[in-house]
Formats: sequence, C-alpha cells, structure tokens
Amino acid sequence: MARKIVITSGKGGVGKTTICANLGVMLAKLNKRVVLVDVDIGLNNLDVVTGIENKIVFDIVDVIENKCRIKQALIQDLNYPNLYIMPSAHSYNCSLVTAENVKKVINQLNDYFDFVLIDCPAGIDEPFKRAVCGADEALVVVTPHLSSLRDADKVLMILNSYNITDISLIVNRVRGDMILDKEMIDANKIAEILNVKLCGIIPEDDNISVLLSLGRTVNKGCEAYSAFTILANNMFEDKKKLYDCTTKYKGFLGYFKRSLRKKV
Ligand SMILES: Nc1ncnc2c1ncn2[C@@H]1O[C@H](COP(=O)(O)OP(=O)(O)OP(=O)(O)O)[C@@H](O)[C@H]1O
Ligand SMILES: [Mg+2]
Repeated sequence: MARKIVITSGKGGVGKTTICANLGVMLAKLNKRVVLVDVDIGLNNLDVVTGIENKIVFDIVDVIENKCRIKQALIQDLNYPNLYIMPSAHSYNCSLVTAENVKKVINQLNDYFDFVLIDCPAGIDEPFKRAVCGADEALVVVTPHLSSLRDADKVLMILNSYNITDISLIVNRVRGDMILDKEMIDANKIAEILNVKLCGIIPEDDNISVLLSLGRTVNKGCEAYSAFTILANNMFEDKKKLYDCTTKYKGFLGYFKRSLRKKV
C-alpha cells in the first residue's frame, strides 16, 4: 500500500516540482519504489526537470481516457530503477479529467509503489482539487516571503476539509546568511505561525536551477543535497531532523562569507 502525498503550496513558483523530483530521487535511493505523478495538467514541467520529456508516449490524460493501460504511461528513470514518472499532458480537451478520475488513476498505483508523490499545480481552484483529491498526506511548500505564507495559510485551511491524515510543512529557498542578519524569517517561526509541523528546510541553492534545466536533480556537490537527504529520512521519523542553513555563515569565516554575499 502506497503513501500518497500531494506536494502543494497555493502560491506558484515556490518549488513544488523541484521538491517532488528531488524527494523522489532521495526516496528511491533509500530503496523505496516511488512514482512521481504530474497533475499540473496543461502547465506541466515535471517531465522537463526529470529529463524524460523526449520519452513520453502516453500521459495521465491518456490513462483517464482509456487510450492506454496505466503501466504504458509510466516512465522509468534512467539512473534510479525504483523511480517512475507519470507525465501530464500539455493540453487536454476532455470532460473526463475530473478529480474523481485522477483519484482512480492514483489508486491504481497503490499496489506497485511505496510512495506516490503528486505534483500539484499552483492555486486553489479545480486543478488543485484534482491533485489533492487522491492524496492521504500533504506536504505544503512555502518560501520565507509574506505572499507565500498567506497562500499557504489558505491552503492549510482548505486541506483540512479533505480526507488528509497528515499535513507537514517544507520551507524552501532559505538563506542562512539572511537569517543570521535578521533579514529573513526563521523556518521554525513560519511553522509556528502557520500552526503546522515542520518536515524540511531546503536552502536557496543556485545549483538547483542549473541542474533542473538540464533535467537533473541535486548531487553531492550541492548544498541542497544534504537538505533533501534529511527530508527523505524525515518521511519515516516522528521526530524530524532539520537542515541548518546558518551553519556555513557562522564564525569568522562565515561572517566573511555573509559580507561577501551582501556585496554580490
Ligand atoms: N531551493 C531552491 N534554490 C534555488 N532555486 C530554487 C529552489 N527551489 C526552486 N528553485 C527554482 O525556482 C523555480 C520554480 O521552481 P518550481 O518549478 O519547482 O516551482 P513550482 O512551485 O513547481 O512552480 P509552479 O507553481 O509554477 O508549478 C525553478 O526555476 C527552480 O529551479
Ligand atoms: Mg510546478
């Protein structure tokens, strides 16, 4: 039986797809069978960030329309054999793409995987409902910015009206230098304000954009690698460990790095 987890936010562009892809890889590295389901129908880009866009033959809309079997729409990752991606369509014109039918597809994945990670579109309208409907758990992604917090607060309220048993928060794009200089709100404080348990902290890391545009996830050379490793392990722990983005900016050398970053 799979854990079906929707990765959502309300606000667009906060890192849902990035987190979906990287968490999926980390869980696959922990020998879990993982499928990433792109429910951002029409504005999909999970296929691009996982580097499979040229391999797509069928997508989730084809499965819903019964044009193919579910296994035909699953694409196995080249590097991690435990990891599969169910791509979404660029466009669709079909009244069958409903929350109920997306849920049916997600339920069919139950027996084959340990984790179904659902990449949710931005917003709180119909596309959001389609993505949330099939999930049992939710990871709400925020960045340490006021507009993101307000949208996350709204989403958290809406999620409570769904059959979701576990809701956790991931704070993305955290800058340790700005936290130490009191220019950015601390992730623990954000979780306290939103009254939700904190499951992960991901640092701002320029490597992410570069790698993702090449269809690759973070590697050991990136700061975010440790943060995603901790996040994946937290999926199995009640007591969550959290990545400390401030460590490298502490002490004399850290102070020097902070001053340098400000000048850039
Ligand atoms: N921790 C990070 N550090 C640096 N860049 C990041 C980080 N997380 C995400 N990004 C960048 O932010 C941009 C938006 O990320 P992403 O597409 O994952 O957001 P999203 O929430 O899925 O957006 P949408 O709502 O449009 O689906 C991308 O260019 C990505 O590379
Ligand atoms: Mg996205």
